[in-house]
Amino acid sequence: MKFKKISVIGLGYIGLPTAAMFASRKIEVVGVDVNQKAVDTINEGRIHIVEPDLDMLVQAAVHGGYLRASTTPEPAEAFLIAVPTPFKEHHEPDLAYIESAAKAIAPVLEKGNLVILESTSPIGATEQLTQWLARERPDLKFPVDGSEECEVHVAHCPERVLPGKVVRELVANDRVIGGMTPACSQRSVELYRSFVVGECVITNARTAEMAKLTENASRDVGIAFANELSLICDKHDIDVWELISLANRHPRVNILEPGPGVGGHCIAVDPWFIVSSAPEEAKMIRAARRINDAKPHWVINKVKEVLFSILKNQPDRSARDIKVACMGLAFKADIDDLRESPALEIAEALNEDLPCTVFGVEPNISEMPANLRGVLELREMDEAIDAADIVVMLVDHREFKTIQPNRMLGKELVDTRGVFRGKHQAAMSLWTPVNTKRSTTDENSNGIRNTTGGDKDGSASVGVEERLAV
Ligand SMILES: NC(=O)c1ccc[n+]([C@@H]2O[C@H](COP(=O)([O-])OP(=O)(O)OC[C@H]3O[C@@H](n4cnc5c(N)ncnc54)[C@H](O)[C@@H]3O)[C@@H](O)[C@H]2O)c1
Repeated sequence: MKFKKISVIGLGYIGLPTAAMFASRKIEVVGVDVNQKAVDTINEGRIHIVEPDLDMLVQAAVHGGYLRASTTPEPAEAFLIAVPTPFKEHHEPDLAYIESAAKAIAPVLEKGNLVILESTSPIGATEQLTQWLARERPDLKFPVDGSEECEVHVAHCPERVLPGKVVRELVANDRVIGGMTPACSQRSVELYRSFVVGECVITNARTAEMAKLTENASRDVGIAFANELSLICDKHDIDVWELISLANRHPRVNILEPGPGVGGHCIAVDPWFIVSSAPEEAKMIRAARRINDAKPHWVINKVKEVLFSILKNQPDRSARDIKVACMGLAFKADIDDLRESPALEIAEALNEDLPCTVFGVEPNISEMPANLRGVLELREMDEAIDAADIVVMLVDHREFKTIQPNRMLGKELVDTRGVFRGKHQAAMSLWTPVNTKRSTTDENSNGIRNTTGGDKDGSASVGVEERLAV
């Protein structure tokens, strides 16, 4: 049976594209969000987040009369829940948003409805959702104990799209569908078939929950390996980008890229759901989280070493004169999402710790989030580079990749994402080191000073500490 009306609860990075995609297939969609501003924006046919091609999709869906947003749920045939699933203190999963979504839709549920949990969830969350619904609606039969006798079907279908490519991946990706019963899975497949061309693979709810967590933990472990390599390479004066590209020439090796840390609300969060469910067993997953969480502190120290070196080499300057441009604040390239962003963490810490002028450059936002307004200055890319003494490349946004190497002349560069790696390598081939033990700052023949090493002898000229003081 085809679905004529569906409801998506939570209209953020996942819920809004999903709602718009169903609407694009001429299904009536009611999107529900507790954020009135988001609801109003969507009802005007506009979007409140940055995601390529989503603006056109939402505009067409709203103006075509297939998508509307509301703060209150109303009856529908299927409900998809895409609310946040953060962790609490001590990295315990926080299911409060799912619980409040369950309580909000429970009064409008009817026999024959389908409820799908799309939020990334710890093992057992779909069972918990089913129990919350059953408690609210004792008049309806739910698949609480896996009973096929249910009147409302419940399933977990984790979302696995990549921010920046959501519109394409929603359609193309395979879906893992874990019903509370086989019939729940089957009904969910019928729903997703409205627009998914990828394969819909059926499993049970707990395996579907663990599958999504495993995907993200796998990425996290891979990035932790690359980040650990970046520290080892720094210690041994080896270019980590070159090293990885060489190792990856092995037919069965595929090392991921290092960076300033791991951010976002998926990879930096979801592995903890596994750790908290099996603390004794999840040793490697926990270690990877710790390695990736430590990387921003390493970058912060690297910038401090660079500043120290400037003050050592230029005795007439004080730290107050030095300007630091933090290039990129989002948690990854070409998006506006600052959640759990290591780049933002680094920029904030440098701004707080150093007497220098620190500014952030983020082409995907027009103003700083409310908590940083008046604290950390947002600048345009060109203006920031011109002004900066130290350029800290934190995100490989497409705008940054177009920066010509000569713009960095006379500046110190801390490149955590390898944005300048090709350009730098070309320049490095012309560069002849005068000393095999590299100092903090290596200047190549193009005049780009790329910092990968530290002030290894730890020496400092007299007066540097004084000039570092706030
Ligand atoms: N963003 C991603 O790339 C991505 C990818 C895969 C999975 N996920 C998962 O999808 C889920 C949603 O993530 P997101 O990035 O879309 O989050 P988001 O914060 O962008 O959107 C969530 C929305 O839910 C709304 N909301 C909160 N409580 C609500 C309630 N009770 N009723 C109605 N609306 C409510 C919020 O106002 C917000 O607009 C999370 O579990 C996340 O881990 C996200």
